[in-house]
Amino acid sequence: MPEPLGIRISGSGRALPSRVLNNQHFVDRLDTTDEWIRERTGILERRVVSPGESTATLATEAARRALENAKMTPADLDMIIVATITPECLFPSTACFVQQALGGPPVPAFDLAAACSGFIYGFVTASHLLREGSPYKNILLIGAETMSRITDYEDRSTCILFGDGAAAVILSSTPDVSRHALLHHRIEAEGSGLSMLAVPAGGSKLPASKMTIDERLHYVKMQGREVYKLAVKRNLELIDSTLAEAGVKPDDIALVIPHQSNLRIIESARQRLGLPPDRVFTNIQKYGNTSAASIPLGIDECRETGRIKDGDLILLVAFGAGLTWGSALLRI
Ligand code: COA
Repeated sequence: MPEPLGIRISGSGRALPSRVLNNQHFVDRLDTTDEWIRERTGILERRVVSPGESTATLATEAARRALENAKMTPADLDMIIVATITPECLFPSTACFVQQALGGPPVPAFDLAAACSGFIYGFVTASHLLREGSPYKNILLIGAETMSRITDYEDRSTCILFGDGAAAVILSSTPDVSRHALLHHRIEAEGSGLSMLAVPAGGSKLPASKMTIDERLHYVKMQGREVYKLAVKRNLELIDSTLAEAGVKPDDIALVIPHQSNLRIIESARQRLGLPPDRVFTNIQKYGNTSAASIPLGIDECRETGRIKDGDLILLVAFGAGLTWGSALLRI
């Protein structure tokens, strides 16, 4: 088992657009029903941005709240990482937009793209960069998405799933690994599944053209059934291997915060762990799948309500496009 990395969450914050799309919104426009959406996904409503809002505005708002929660200023940050697949633009990075909006001295700022696993990839990256002896002490890590910008609202099998939002944590190094630490993690990718879930156009392979627009290739394309089956399988393998390698029993875990892609996927993980529903966090009902934002939204909500407390053992787990997946076992 790898050495625990001494990190703690010094602060967290979230930002959600005020515009709500409930299931009736889709029932009024597409061949679908509220019952189908609830039963197949667990989603009741999701938030979407309005004109003037974007990934960077949500990320910045979440970051400001995290700084306030940590009683820090932008001058205390040594690095900014934004996990996103819906960046402000192709370049510069969304992290640079956040740095500009927050102000403060120049610090490393970059984006990280691992789709729904993005926050866990970012968490592991930041934790390693905060290792003892590193010049970095406090890293602002944000999961921010405006999935509504890449969602095809004419495709009933995907448009009901996604929502927008952002949440930020400030990760700080700490020498006391017995109190706060990243105890174990796995992050992996398997590129052979990359076409199962993708936005085909808008990059260097297929730049924007009349054809790409006419064929709606700037939107999410997903082989839902195949992705679903793999998500269940990988989640279960990931949970089993993470706990076995860390020597932890499911009962030791205070709370699992899984990526929120489908309530049935989360339920299969809960059953595998044999945990009661109150030990597995869900908020997919009100936000849908917010990709890299879903896990930090859960962390922030649970810190705010006292559902997770200092010293609790927490398991984060995610699966997403790439295909990518990741787990992080934390003493929070
Ligand atoms: N309303 C009504 N019917 C719908 C529908 C909708 N919104 N969307 C799809 N359907 C239909 C399909 O057309 C299909 O009809 P058919 O049998 O006549 O062909 C039927 O429902 C079943 O479709 P299927 O895609 O097999 O349903 P499903 O049970 O797999 O649920 C998802 C679809 C998208 C909810 C599910 O596949 C899923 O959650 N996939 C993974 C999502 C995910 O994890 N994504 C990101 C990774 S983080």
